[in-house]
Amino acid sequence: MISGKNFTVEPWHIRETSFDLDLLDEAESLFALSNGHIGMRGNLEEGEPHGLPGTYLNSYYEVRPLPYAEAGFGYPEAGQTLVNITNGKLIRLLVDDEPFDLRYGELLEHERVLDMRAGTLTRTADWRSPAGKQVRVVSTRLVSLAQRSVAAIEYTVEAVDEFARVTVQSELVANEQLPDSADDPRVAAVLDNPLEAVGHEHSEYGAILLHRTRISELLMAAAMTHDVEVPGRVEVTTGARTDWATTTVICGLRPGQKLRIVKYLAYGWSSLRSRPALRDQVAAALSGARYTGWEGLLESQREYLDEFWDSADVEVEGDPDSQQAVRFGLFHVLQASARAERRAIPGKGLTGTGYDGHAFWDTEGFVLPLLTYTAPYAAADALRWRASTLDLARERAAQLNLTGAAFPWRTIRGEECSAYWPAGTAAWHVNADIAMAFERYRVVTGDDSLEAECGLAVLVETARLWLSLGHHDRFGVWHVDGVTGPDEYTAVVRDNVFTNLMAAHNLRTAAEGCLRHPDRAEELGVTEAEMADWRTAADDAFIPFDDDLGVHPQCAGFTTLQEWDFVTNTTYPLLLHAPYVRLYPAQVIKQADLVLAMQWQSHAFTLEQKARNVDYYERRTTRDSSLSACTQAVMCAEVGHLELAHDYAYEAALIDLRDLHHNTRDGLHMASLAGAWTALVAGFGGLRDDDGVLSLDPRLPSGITRLRFRLRWRDFRITVDVNHENVTYTVRDGPHTAMTIRHGGEDLEISTDEPSTVAIKPREPLLPEPQQPPGREPLRRRLQQG
Ligand code: BGC
Repeated sequence: MISGKNFTVEPWHIRETSFDLDLLDEAESLFALSNGHIGMRGNLEEGEPHGLPGTYLNSYYEVRPLPYAEAGFGYPEAGQTLVNITNGKLIRLLVDDEPFDLRYGELLEHERVLDMRAGTLTRTADWRSPAGKQVRVVSTRLVSLAQRSVAAIEYTVEAVDEFARVTVQSELVANEQLPDSADDPRVAAVLDNPLEAVGHEHSEYGAILLHRTRISELLMAAAMTHDVEVPGRVEVTTGARTDWATTTVICGLRPGQKLRIVKYLAYGWSSLRSRPALRDQVAAALSGARYTGWEGLLESQREYLDEFWDSADVEVEGDPDSQQAVRFGLFHVLQASARAERRAIPGKGLTGTGYDGHAFWDTEGFVLPLLTYTAPYAAADALRWRASTLDLARERAAQLNLTGAAFPWRTIRGEECSAYWPAGTAAWHVNADIAMAFERYRVVTGDDSLEAECGLAVLVETARLWLSLGHHDRFGVWHVDGVTGPDEYTAVVRDNVFTNLMAAHNLRTAAEGCLRHPDRAEELGVTEAEMADWRTAADDAFIPFDDDLGVHPQCAGFTTLQEWDFVTNTTYPLLLHAPYVRLYPAQVIKQADLVLAMQWQSHAFTLEQKARNVDYYERRTTRDSSLSACTQAVMCAEVGHLELAHDYAYEAALIDLRDLHHNTRDGLHMASLAGAWTALVAGFGGLRDDDGVLSLDPRLPSGITRLRFRLRWRDFRITVDVNHENVTYTVRDGPHTAMTIRHGGEDLEISTDEPSTVAIKPREPLLPEPQQPPGREPLRRRLQQG
């Protein structure tokens, strides 16, 4: 676990105060920079030591085999995997004759700081070479949010106490050697040297390398150029070969003198454009970067982020860990999406190769709510990406003998890449999650145009899928069978409540959308009769309820399954220690499922049902998925277990800053990082929108004295400022002077004239705080008890 030893808790920075070789991989993920198009792990400039070198371009992938021990009809035949592209971060340094390498010589001081307002990663190293020469190396890097194809590094070397001859080699390296990751040799073969050289060129100060993936045939180009400043004589030369280009800078530095290099990088890829076109594209991007200059890039980065924080910031008083972590989450979610521009937002963003770089329902379910309220343009682009894959989803549905469109469980480009159908294809809810994200975008932004442009087709085709998946029984009840809900420890079941509620919502939303856009609906071949069928299925959808226990079974029969033995099975995550064939038939839950239904379809449950369901499912949930804690936070808060909710909020937020799932090295968990915002805003702020109204119902746990967050709602910008007694709603600006929200279940008019302060509505929990399975209490509680 990453402890507070090297990492300080500060509101706007992630600061590592000393170098720890054991945390190298994790720090590379935490310090990753991205704009949603380019991603760079926080690797050291000198390249070594490294955990996982990583530079990525969104949706630049290679096709890889999906090996099956036993094949089956309709199994996806090929997978997609994110490719490590040409590394432009490399800047090697030779001090006299010694390579600057933290494993040798003496590291007097080392600090890395991620500045979440500046959007930069700064590193300072005071190092004495084995031969006794001391230098100070300071680097600052950014991946530009303003100029999508551009990254840049300012690199300075200063001689501290005596003259030093320094040689800097600034490089582009393709096909760099990576630690082994794939277990299957067929997969490893594809990923070994994935880039085929197609061209290279250089000038005195820079170079361009062009490569192509072998199977997916995607062309990419990486380019660099440099500005060099140093007192006295300096020699600059550049050389290039197929997989490698180096600009070498040599000079002598007297004590106190500095060599300053600004390295500008540009990246691009295309499946269509020709070599010359792509070459020119990156050359132009590079010229643009140089024209803006280092200071200009810093300035535009800051401006972009100022605007983001102005609509997105969350202030948490009384809990500095959560304050830092929620900003860290917001920052990384923005990085993953800001300039993705109609490409997927992967589960790990562009911070590592975990999950092969795939996007899941994590995007629409967890990341987009945050973006819709804070950076709606990025949410719209992510939805456009999904819509752009509709034809592939139609093909997939047809392949499965279904009508409509079946979106993939995991993918980069749009094809299904999940090789395990019980927790992949059968998780049909992804389709309804996508539909819900379109609807939320429309409701929250008030912008119908995205629905007309591409959303309606998605709503219609997913509604068609539900109709072909579900059926009416002889009593006229509509069921969806053979389905897996969010909980991946219970698969291929009948009537998963979450799925049925979400499907019903999908069906109704499609019908309403068609009424809003009749012409478009006609083009899609929708008839009155079809819409009526959607509504009937939605109205007849079966929602099982266990009258005896007074709770909703997660799926039909769930509450009568065998209880899981939590006393004997104590090694988590269970998926690595217990067979699915034992997990499926038992009441053991990987992640919030029924509890998530109560957040996303809040109106479908009474407060008493929510309290009883939370109590029941808390006792059986392992939180083996990082997607769970944020939902548990929200629902525990709603039913009045505020302290427990705070513990879960903490877990969701600190998942990567403390490496709680022991896999931060593979990349950051975007859903959980977004969930940090959700836990605070939907948990302690009580935000809901599933009724089409902005509803808030704030209530704070004892450890947070004040919570202040910002939202956008239909061109209004609103600040919500909560303490233990009251909440102040401020409408900063908007298209009208007044708007109506719901506060604690009642309408409240708020206006731009003056802030409205109203009392918090306290809520006594109906039931005592529930227990979790032994050993699965939330982290902070465990630490306190220990
Ligand atoms: C979870 C899924 C999630 C995936 C990617 C799995 O462990 O169970 O719900 O989509 O991880 O984050």
